[in-house]
Amino acid sequence: MSEQIVKNSTYALATGKSASARLNLINKIYGKASRSFLTSTLKNKNKLRILSVGCGNGNMELWLAKKLKKHNGIVVAIDKSEEQLHLARQKAEWQKIFNAFFLKGDGMDFSFSEKFDVVYTRFLLVHVTNPTRVISNMLDALKSGGTIICEDMVGSSIMGYPYTDALREAVALVANLGKYYGLDYDFGLKIYTTLFHYHVQNLQVQYTQPTFFTPKEKNLLFLSLQESQQSYLKAGLISLERLSYLLDTLKKLAQDEASLVTWGVVQVKGTKIEKNHY
Ligand SMILES: C[S@@+](CC[C@H](N)C(=O)[O-])C[C@H]1O[C@@H](n2cnc3c(N)ncnc32)[C@H](O)[C@@H]1O
Repeated sequence: MSEQIVKNSTYALATGKSASARLNLINKIYGKASRSFLTSTLKNKNKLRILSVGCGNGNMELWLAKKLKKHNGIVVAIDKSEEQLHLARQKAEWQKIFNAFFLKGDGMDFSFSEKFDVVYTRFLLVHVTNPTRVISNMLDALKSGGTIICEDMVGSSIMGYPYTDALREAVALVANLGKYYGLDYDFGLKIYTTLFHYHVQNLQVQYTQPTFFTPKEKNLLFLSLQESQQSYLKAGLISLERLSYLLDTLKKLAQDEASLVTWGVVQVKGTKIEKNHY
């Protein structure tokens, strides 16, 4: 498989090295909120087994593995893309982290014989046609009394100032690509209700909307659009000329020191109660 958009896949973004800078930027922007949301679940627990679904290049998983090391815990992480897994394994090797295992797996169709204490996913649910099924698989993989943690974006929450038609058009374009692929880029908003209907207990929910200040951070929407431009063109949602105009305008917005861009994410966690099937 090449390091490009995976053909016949609903994943509109790139994988492998071409996606790494964007994933690292995402981690820079959202990592603090993610780490703080996860920390209380990890405190003083021995031999925790954590499963992460759609791990990408492993930023959160390697952080988790480091946290768990002194308590003899392990992280098992799955992703559909071999390129992402390769990068994650490479980083684990460089950082001498030996309690994180990166395996090929599809969030829509996986099972493990041994259950986990925590199951986690970040920024995957908006990229699959049936996020509820991923959640159901995650609950199946979780021990009774274990914790499920999901974080995902709300595409329609992207805002910026100064107002530009290009930003509004780009946000609409993202939503239209979602519709074209049968995806819901607003699924972050629906995680809480989905877990509630699965009878997940002790639900905690948080909404975080970091404001991007630096040109690098403000470039996130530009990078996402640039990376997935083939998908928009292939879907016939926009002409190359118009897309180039949008990219150009978004880049200028990012470079404008006085501009502001913000993009919201919902974080939810809760406890699995005894139940045979989800
Ligand atoms: C936006 S990235 C998020 C990566 C990582 N969780 C993070 O927070 O940086 C989404 C990841 O999900 C993976 N992915 C897409 N569809 C998948 C599926 N059906 N099962 C497992 N992984 C999938 C992609 O390869 C990609 O690595």
